Amino acid sequence: MENKRRILSGMRPTGKLHLGHYVGALENWVKLQDEFDSYHLIADLHVLTTNLDTSQIYQNTIDMVIDWLAVGLDPDKSPFFRQSQIKEHTELFLIFSMLVTKARLERNPTLKDQVRDLNIENIIYGHLGYPVLQSADILLYKGEAVPVGEDQVPHVEITREIARKFNKQYGKVFREPKPLLTNFSRLVGLDGNAKMSKSLNNTILLSDEPETVEKKLKKAKTDPQKLRRNDPGRPEVCLVFSYHKKFNPGEIEEIEAGCKSGALGCVDCKLKCSAKINEYLAPVLEIRKQYENNIPKVEEILHTGEATAKKVANTTMQQVRDAMKLG
Ligand code: TRP
Repeated sequence: MENKRRILSGMRPTGKLHLGHYVGALENWVKLQDEFDSYHLIADLHVLTTNLDTSQIYQNTIDMVIDWLAVGLDPDKSPFFRQSQIKEHTELFLIFSMLVTKARLERNPTLKDQVRDLNIENIIYGHLGYPVLQSADILLYKGEAVPVGEDQVPHVEITREIARKFNKQYGKVFREPKPLLTNFSRLVGLDGNAKMSKSLNNTILLSDEPETVEKKLKKAKTDPQKLRRNDPGRPEVCLVFSYHKKFNPGEIEEIEAGCKSGALGCVDCKLKCSAKINEYLAPVLEIRKQYENNIPKVEEILHTGEATAKKVANTTMQQVRDAMKLG
């Protein structure tokens, strides 16, 4: 246990999670929890960078934690904790904010993407500092690796720079963490958008009932050239086929051939696909229900995780203060 390498993964609590979260992150986290000493951070303070309304954060956190549990993350192996409950995050954030320039943060491509996607006119100081808080998240736990998608790699790079700068200035406290990239990182949305995302309203939730999944898939976009059942289709441009690849690998050749020849119509293909997704989701829904009916248990899981995380954070912060001669 003690000799395992430490990883720190994190997610902002935006509510119920969808299949894109599963494919892009959670599936990987579940695998990694045996191999690594894993810590799972709920980045609730990061939510404020783009949304000042805090009224939903608590409920969104609970919903997210239930989804984590339902897909198989085990809090006994890997503590779950809220950033907001561990004051060391804010303290280290402040110190780190002295070790990075404004120009460096303005160059962050992830920030530029967000500014464009959300039509932000004036960037908030805290939003500019997003990767600085993330650096504090990672380095407080001395995470050696950070499982992330491509879009977060620039944040890990800033974390490495901050670690280097700190060590150079005050003495070696931190190791430079590495990004641990997920191989399959994106699930296309139901509307054909490259990304499944809540704001685009093109998701299948981990909490969707079988009828909902079926209904949503029925409306999913397919190859626009396949208008009638017997028209030959192009599986490589069809998002439903990409879902089959992920959730129905056993039948993939048959489906591909059927689509191409025209023997398999989109309606049947979608029904097969929703059945497979529902097969995957059945145990997830089952576990979800158990926790939905036992919220105190979910809260207890958080409190336990937070107690464990606090100890680590406290030790690191003491090392930081010692190195800086801040007593
Ligand atoms: N920025 C990450 C995201 O949006 C969330 C996050 C916050 C995170 N702190 C972290 C991820 C620390 C990894 C490590 O996905």
